[in-house]
Amino acid sequence: MKSIVGEVVELRRAGTSLKGLCPFHNEKTPSFHINEHRKLYHCYGCGAGGDVIRFVSETRGLSFVEAVEYLGDRVGIQVEREETTPEEIQRALAERSQRGRMLELYQAAQAFFRHTLGLPEGAEARKYAQDRGLSPEIFERFGLGAAGRSWEELVQHLHRRGFSQQEIVASGLGMPRDSGGLYDRFRDRLMFPIHTSSGDLVGFGGRSLGGGKEVAKYMNTPETTLDTEAPESRFRHFYKKGQCVFGLHQARASLRQTHTAIIVEGNLDVMTLHQAGLESAVCAMGTALTEMQVKEIKRFANKVVLVFDGDAAGRKAAMKAVPVCVAEGFDGVFVLLPETEDPDSYVRKFGAKAMQDLIQAAPNLVTGYIDALVAESDGSLQAKAEVVQKAGLLLAAIPNPIVRDMARDHLASRLLDRGTDENRATLQRYLQRIVPAAVVAESGEQPIPDPTRDEAPVPTIEADLARILVWYPGLMGQAQQFGALEYLGHDGVRLALRDLLGRGRESGLDATVIAEWAREMPDGHARRLILRSLMEGAPVPADQANPWLTQVVLRLQERRLDEEIDAVRGALVHTGSPEDQLAALSQRLVRLKQEKEHVRVALRRAGQPV
Ligand code: UTP
Ligand code: MN
Repeated sequence: MKSIVGEVVELRRAGTSLKGLCPFHNEKTPSFHINEHRKLYHCYGCGAGGDVIRFVSETRGLSFVEAVEYLGDRVGIQVEREETTPEEIQRALAERSQRGRMLELYQAAQAFFRHTLGLPEGAEARKYAQDRGLSPEIFERFGLGAAGRSWEELVQHLHRRGFSQQEIVASGLGMPRDSGGLYDRFRDRLMFPIHTSSGDLVGFGGRSLGGGKEVAKYMNTPETTLDTEAPESRFRHFYKKGQCVFGLHQARASLRQTHTAIIVEGNLDVMTLHQAGLESAVCAMGTALTEMQVKEIKRFANKVVLVFDGDAAGRKAAMKAVPVCVAEGFDGVFVLLPETEDPDSYVRKFGAKAMQDLIQAAPNLVTGYIDALVAESDGSLQAKAEVVQKAGLLLAAIPNPIVRDMARDHLASRLLDRGTDENRATLQRYLQRIVPAAVVAESGEQPIPDPTRDEAPVPTIEADLARILVWYPGLMGQAQQFGALEYLGHDGVRLALRDLLGRGRESGLDATVIAEWAREMPDGHARRLILRSLMEGAPVPADQANPWLTQVVLRLQERRLDEEIDAVRGALVHTGSPEDQLAALSQRLVRLKQEKEHVRVALRRAGQPV
């Protein structure tokens, strides 16, 4: 079960079970568990669950029969099929899903291209790949193949393998002739298969073998749709270019170690980098990097290295890709290659070590992006305003508020650095406002509202309590006994600490649990405060934590008493309170004052207020 699920989900051991990011819904912290003993999976987030057959069927869009066959293949048991009569063939077909058939068709085409590469018809493609320096290992790793010169060899082959004209057209590998019949889409090309991250073969790319201008240099399978799937199903698209990340399947083993994806522009770049030992290289295949692709990469990595071509188009593409990566919460760097190089040519000329050095020295995604914007601008007021606009979009996309603030500081310092002092006040005022509320996105997107805009700030004393409890969660019980959580006036902080208390009861609180919890909290002052505190370090050393908590609680009590005293005073001076109530109120006031005196004495004993 572990290995089958592991093809789709990166699993980590967690106590007796294994967990990972759920493949059935979007999440940032793992709530998908498998229990190896019971051979079941379950997601605490979305409720998906079942056995391994169901897992295969649901993650790969296969019918029950196909899922069983798939599992059979994995463990080396061939599920015999004995379809001889037309009725039996019909019945067997009825048990197949459209996606299962399509996968079979693509497998058959892949086998055909692989076979052709070894034949005389494939000699030219073979030579092309060798001339570009690709090793036999890379041929294997990426499953390279060849499409020959003929017009219908593949189509004929697929027909012989039992695929109908309709299926072949739907796959995009054959196209109808005006005169009837089909012809091959790919001819005279070096073929490379395109896989999903789980390893399903869903498309092909083909590189033309010559430099001729009359044919497109690269050609990919067209987007293919499965019309038996519901429009909202995630299997509706068999191949969708903005969804697939070339090389991700091959990069997964390396990503498990480095968690750092190297994103480049071209397929050949990916293969060359893998060959040079940079095995976490992937690419978007000629389209601008999409949010969906970045999300897909995020399932396996938390850092990116963007390496784009050194030409103007490459620079432009890099500047576009940075905000997409940043918005997904990626940390990382971007490398701009020398003017005429792409990753493939660079590694061939200067070697993998040189590439690694470039990566080592590369600027951070966020600050580097800002620097690049500033460097491009001519320092005029107009240009500066544009930099602020553009950088503002990036800043607004940064999910972590601390990183966002630091990025804003960086932008301010860069702009002021190059300008005269007279703009200082304007810029600073604008930058204070711009992130994230004041930014209006270029493409008419809604500005991202600042979730803290309408929220009261956290009073210092409550912030102190939150800080001490996230650093010393062992004191949670004690704080609870004092009733400290009841004294909190800030909704965000109160809810957060209650939630933390609940988690502590469930699972115990170690540093990782707390960090995860904090990351998951809804954005607001409380979350920002807690993340900041976690980054800044403990508010007091461990041996002072307990007395500090006592002081904080006493101060909270004192504050609460002050509020009550004010309220009672207010009622007392409020003319119109009935006589009998006045007596009760004065008694109450006396009691509150006594209580407050106790708290003050206790505070003095506990030491100076912090
Ligand atoms: P490039 O033009 O940078 O190609 O396009 P490349 O990867 O350096 O290829 P070589 O080195 O000339 O062989 C980058 C990517 O854009 C897509 C391909 O996926 C390519 O790898 N592309 C490019 C197309 O889809 N169609 C094209 O005609 C050109
Ligand atoms: Mn190239």
